[in-house]
Amino acid sequence: MRKQIVAGNWKMNTTFADGFNLAKEVICKSANIPQNVELIICPPFTHLAEFAKATRGTNLHIGAQNCAMWDKGAYTGEVSAVMLKSVGVTHVILGHSERREYFGENSPVLLKKLHLALENGLVPIFCCGEKLAERESNNHFEVVAQQIDETLCQLTPQQMERVVIAYEPVWAIGTGKTATADQAQEMHAHIRKLITSKFGAAIAQNTSILYGGSCKPSNASEIFGKADVDGGLIGGAALVADDFIAIAKGFK
Ligand code: PGA
Repeated sequence: MRKQIVAGNWKMNTTFADGFNLAKEVICKSANIPQNVELIICPPFTHLAEFAKATRGTNLHIGAQNCAMWDKGAYTGEVSAVMLKSVGVTHVILGHSERREYFGENSPVLLKKLHLALENGLVPIFCCGEKLAERESNNHFEVVAQQIDETLCQLTPQQMERVVIAYEPVWAIGTGKTATADQAQEMHAHIRKLITSKFGAAIAQNTSILYGGSCKPSNASEIFGKADVDGGLIGGAALVADDFIAIAKGFK
C-alpha cells in the first residue's frame, strides 16, 4: 500500500523559538493520527539540526525546503544534501514553484538536486504544477508532463522508488483558491500514468503523490479521499498546529 503523507512546508516563517514551540505542539497533538500516515515538517535551515534531535523517536520526520545543486565547495550561502543528512534530516522539498519562480530553478538544476538528495539518502518531495495561464489555455497536462519528463523520468527505477511527488497548481498556492478534488484527482492520475509508462505499474502504484495548494481542514478530507491522492504538502495551514493535525486526520 502507498504511504499516506502530510508534509508541512513552513517556507520562510518562524523564529527558532516560535518554530520549536510549534513543532512541540504538533508532536503532542499527533498522538492519535493513524499509524500509516507519515507526518513531516519542513522548517527553515536554521531549525533543522535541533528539530531533528528533538523529534528523534517520535513519528514526526524533518525535511528541508531545498538543497544545493553541488555537493560541496565555494558556493557561498548554499547548504548541501550531505550536510542535511548529517544533522538527521530525512526529506527535502525540491522544485517548489517559489524556487522555480524566484530562484530560476529549472529542470537541469532540479535533476542535479534530485541526484544529490538521493545519493545522500534523502527522500525528495518533488513538486510540479502549472501556472494559471497554462491551465486557462488548457496546457496543464502538457506542462506537468514536461516537468516530470525532464526530471523524474531521467532517474533510474531504483531512484524513482524513493521519490515522493507533490502536485501543486501554482494558482492555488497561498491564494485560498484550491483545486477541486476532481481537478486534483485528474492530474494525479495523469502523473501516475506518466510514471507507469516510464517505470512500470509496480513503481507507479507505490509512489505517493501529494496535493498542495491552499489545503486546509475543510477541504483535505475530500481531496485525500480521491483514489490517486496520497496526502498533502501544506503551506499556510502547517503553521497552525491544530489545522495541520486536522488535515492529517483527513484520510478516510
Ligand atoms: P499553501 O502552500 O498551502 O499555503 O497554499 C502550499 C505550498 O506552497 O507548498
